[in-house]
Order: sequence, then structure tokens, then C-alpha cells
Amino acid sequence: MAGTQQPEVNIGLVGHVDHGKTTLVQALSGSWTDQHSEEMKRGISIRLGYADATFRHCPDLDEPERYTVEQECPDGSPSEPLRTVSFVDAPGHETLMATMLSGASLMDGAVLVVSANEPVPQPQTEEHLMALDIIGIDNIVIAQNKVDLVDSQQARQNYREIQEFVEGTVAEDAPVVPVSAGQEVNLDLLIQAIEEEIPTPERDPGTDPRMHVARSFDINKPGTTAKDLAGGVLGGSLIRGELEVGDELEIRPGREVEEGGQTEYVPIQTTVRSLQAGGADAESVTPGGLLGVGTGLDPSLTKGDALAGRIAGPPESLPPTWEQFTMDVDLLDRVVGNVEDASQEGDAADIDEINTGEPLMMTIGTATTVGAVTSARSGECEVKLKRPVSAEPGSKIAINRRIGARWRLIGLGTLRE
Ligand code: GTP
Repeated sequence: MAGTQQPEVNIGLVGHVDHGKTTLVQALSGSWTDQHSEEMKRGISIRLGYADATFRHCPDLDEPERYTVEQECPDGSPSEPLRTVSFVDAPGHETLMATMLSGASLMDGAVLVVSANEPVPQPQTEEHLMALDIIGIDNIVIAQNKVDLVDSQQARQNYREIQEFVEGTVAEDAPVVPVSAGQEVNLDLLIQAIEEEIPTPERDPGTDPRMHVARSFDINKPGTTAKDLAGGVLGGSLIRGELEVGDELEIRPGREVEEGGQTEYVPIQTTVRSLQAGGADAESVTPGGLLGVGTGLDPSLTKGDALAGRIAGPPESLPPTWEQFTMDVDLLDRVVGNVEDASQEGDAADIDEINTGEPLMMTIGTATTVGAVTSARSGECEVKLKRPVSAEPGSKIAINRRIGARWRLIGLGTLRE
């Protein structure tokens, strides 16, 4: 059941491919997050999908039975809404870690979905948990899914494997809830765990609004005449403050301009013409859920996610734009996830120090950018970016290195002043 009220918290759904994230979101929200036809064809989530769910309760029932997403309690009385949450469904496929990482910056907490019928951990179970750790998301609930496919002995064995696996990680104290998303078993218990473990963060509505842009669109049908053309639309989440229709908006780093063979990024100025939150038009919006922000921009600027990874907020309020920066570096002990294709010289899973000259892929907020290391010392390095990013000093940076055929998460960076 889609919520009519704006969601107040973003909850990531993370985990290995096919472990049932999308099915779980569907069971909790009644909507299918895989909305893109190409995704339907490929059967995997290639973009961050958002779906809203209103958690409700039946005050006359005991826990956990009182928790529900249904409008009606078992005795026929109406259930009462608790809060509307927004699930950010992160792709589980290994080549899509960058998308998962950029989504992680929008998550206030996460549900890690682990299949009960496979050994623990599968590669992206480990890699996603490491990403939560790096980005600092510690409000975690573990859903042990597909319990309908195993007998009770296997379920218990798998439960123990999960507990051993999370020991010493950010999810160490996370509750593990056995569920079947497919058969809708134990969802009440899962909702209870989410209510208890992933509270809505305290917000300060008085601060300048700031939006992380995760998507951008041209919503016009081909052939629309100039006078009927709707302005460009930004999709993403507000991380603080309140945004209203009519507000002036600056977008940084803005757009690429070529001048005399030089590429420059110029901040974009526009006005908020319309707002959508929780699937409905709104006059003002606060953090939580996916926002659609209609602007006065030429839609060609926003087409095809062209502005994904940007930051938007009132003019003069945005953080600096960096073409190069220095970051403190904290490398992981070893490559996590699938190590077969991670063979460096020596031990396949070891992570070597960062070298001057090597390319890195970095995720900062919702921005993913590639840079070359211009100087590397132990514990810090300087990188020159191919495309600049806007970010506050102190921001966390997920650092990825090309190992074998793909980018692998190798550590955490912190942006220096
Ligand atoms: P990606 O988005 O591609 O990462 O996958 P996902 O984790 O979202 O998995 P998805 O929800 O697409 O489920 C994968 C398959 O598992 C589908 O065929 C589902 O029908 C099936 N499935 C999901 N949950 C359950 C469950 O609880 N029990 C059973 N038997 N099958 C399930």
C-alpha cells in the first residue's frame, strides 16, 4: 500500500543478487520498485528504486502481531498509521556497487537481506555490509529471507552462519529476523525490528535545505512543442531543511562548459516550480523518500541522469566544488566479496597501498567520479578528478580500485579541508 504521506526516513535494502530485496519491498509496500523495462528484462535492479510503505499497527493486539501494512486489523477494525518509510532498493549485482554506494549516502538505516538457502556470506552480502560500515550506517536489521525453502535445521544453521559473519562488524548487534518475502511470513516481526532499530533521525527544519540529486529527467514526450515543454526534473532526497515551491535553487558543480579547449563547470541557477513527494504533489517537502523537483531548467540539461551526483540548495549555501582534493585514507584489510577475479600479485585478497598515478573511482554523496592519484603517502593521498564534485570537508569517500575486471571497494577516504 503506497503511503499518501511523505516518508520520513530512508531505509536501504541491501544484499546479494536474487536474495529477495525487491520481493521484500513489494511485500511491505505493495509496489514493485523495478520500474524500468530494461530492468524487467534483465531481472535485476539497475537503478536505485524507491518504494514507500506505511507501517501501521493494531493497538489491541500484542507484539509482534500488532504490526502490519494492511489497513484493516484481523478483527475488522481499522489499523492506525505509525510512520511512512521509503525503501531505497540497491542493486545486488556486483558490477553495480557504485550505484549501491551512491544510494548509501541517502540511507538512514538499512535492511540486509540474506538468503537462508545459500552459504553465508555470498560476495555482495559481504561487500554491501562493508559499504554500510564505511559510510557509517549502523542502524541495521538483517532479514533472513526465503525460510520457506529450508527446513528448520537448515534455517538454524544458516542463522548461526549469519551471526558469525556479522561478528565484529557494524551489524554485530543487528537483529536477525527469519522471513519469507515470497510467502509473506513474519513481516510483522520485521516491521517491529525496523521500528525499533531504525528510528527517524532528528531533523532541523530551520537549516538551509540540501538535496542530493540521484537522478534527473526530461519528462516531455518526444515532439512536445516549445510552449508546452515542462522544465527539467531532479530526483533525489533532501538530507536536511525544508524545500518549498518558489525557492531559488543552485545546483553544483553545475554543467560542463567548453571554452577555448578548456572544460569548466558552471553552477546552475533555477527555481523550484513543483514538488512531488510520496507520489503526491506538495507545496513543501522535508527529508525522507524520493523527491521529484520540477525546475525551470531546459530539459535537455536534465535528460538521462545528466545531473545525477550533484548537490542542490539555496544559492551561496552549497559546499565547495573540488577538481582535486586531499583525503585521509583508511584501507580495508583485504578485498571483500568475490575474490577470484581480484588477483593482484601476491595474495589475491590483500590490498596494496595506493600508488601515485593510479586511477581510483570514488563515491562521495551520490556522486561517483574517477580521479588519478597525483601524490600518495601512507594514510593520505591527493587526487585529480576527471569530473569535479561538490562536498563538505570531512565528507566520507568510498574508494574503489580497478582489480581484474571491475572496481573493487578498497577503503574509506575523508575529504580534507
Ligand atoms: P536484485 O534486485 O537483482 O539484486 O535481486 P533481489 O535481491 O531484489 O531479488 P528478487 O526480489 O528479485 O528475488 C529473486 C528471486 O527470489 C525471485 O525469483 C523471487 O521470486 C524469489 N524470492 C524472493 N523472496 C522469496 C522467498 O521468500 N521465498 C521464495 N521461495 N522465493 C523468494
